Amino acid sequence: MIVPGSASQDLAATLSAALGESLAAVEYEQFADGERVVRVPDTDDRAVVVASTVSDGAHVELLQLQDAARQQAEEVVTVLPYMGYARQDEAFAEGEPVSARAMARAISTGTDRVLTVNPHENAVCDFFDVPCRAVDAAGLLADTLPALSDPLFLSPDEGAIDLAKTVRDTAGDGEVDYFEKHRLSDTEVEMQPSDADTAGRDVVLVDDIVATGSTMSTAIAQLDDPDRVFVTCVHPMLAASARTKLARVGVDGVFGTDTIERAVSTVSVAPALAEHL
Ligand code: R5P
Repeated sequence: MIVPGSASQDLAATLSAALGESLAAVEYEQFADGERVVRVPDTDDRAVVVASTVSDGAHVELLQLQDAARQQAEEVVTVLPYMGYARQDEAFAEGEPVSARAMARAISTGTDRVLTVNPHENAVCDFFDVPCRAVDAAGLLADTLPALSDPLFLSPDEGAIDLAKTVRDTAGDGEVDYFEKHRLSDTEVEMQPSDADTAGRDVVLVDDIVATGSTMSTAIAQLDDPDRVFVTCVHPMLAASARTKLARVGVDGVFGTDTIERAVSTVSVAPALAEHL
């Protein structure tokens, strides 16, 4: 049985159809003091909890779903389409926690194994105390793009170059390059443009996540007279004023997957997940 988190209901339904497994009608409630509760109806022998941890509340809800499922099912599989805190994979300053490890340890207590999608670094899987697999869904992003003319696939930093290559390879032909990025703060980045010629070309920016939109909007502002500009990402978090930032720099389209359910989630990672369930 597929057990959806409240933030992953569409993906859970798509996955349920892909696997031919029933979809649990979970109830979600929040009390006046802010505490949450879920109610999971009878599950089968296997419960597949599908829950992106897009907020602190979603983390709590996931632990509750796992606990409720564990009381009924022999096997509990946890699918984290988007794993929150995964980018905090080290202590960046003295006294800080390794937040990704803290989350992974907590999630491990309620499950037999974990599947996640394009975490910032695949090494985050090592933080779990149960088997964890990172599924690469970047190739699916090519399906969302319109027909391209003389395309250039750009990642906003060297770390995301493989994602850009994967999208290029799936889309067909095109040049791949990357920017040099230095993060100044949570919402500010500094970038050196790539050497690639952008004039008159279709430029496709590819990254694992668009969070505040600072990275993408800074990159796009440096493009020299492109024809069209598309933004693709696996996780369309689009927090705060991200959509405004992208609109102000003249983006022609934003495309993401349903690891985070947004209006721009035009492709589902369900087929990629189903292969491992
Ligand atoms: C960081 O290296 C990631 O790959 C993303 O580029 C980054 O997290 C995006 O964040 P934002 O949209 O806030 O700039």
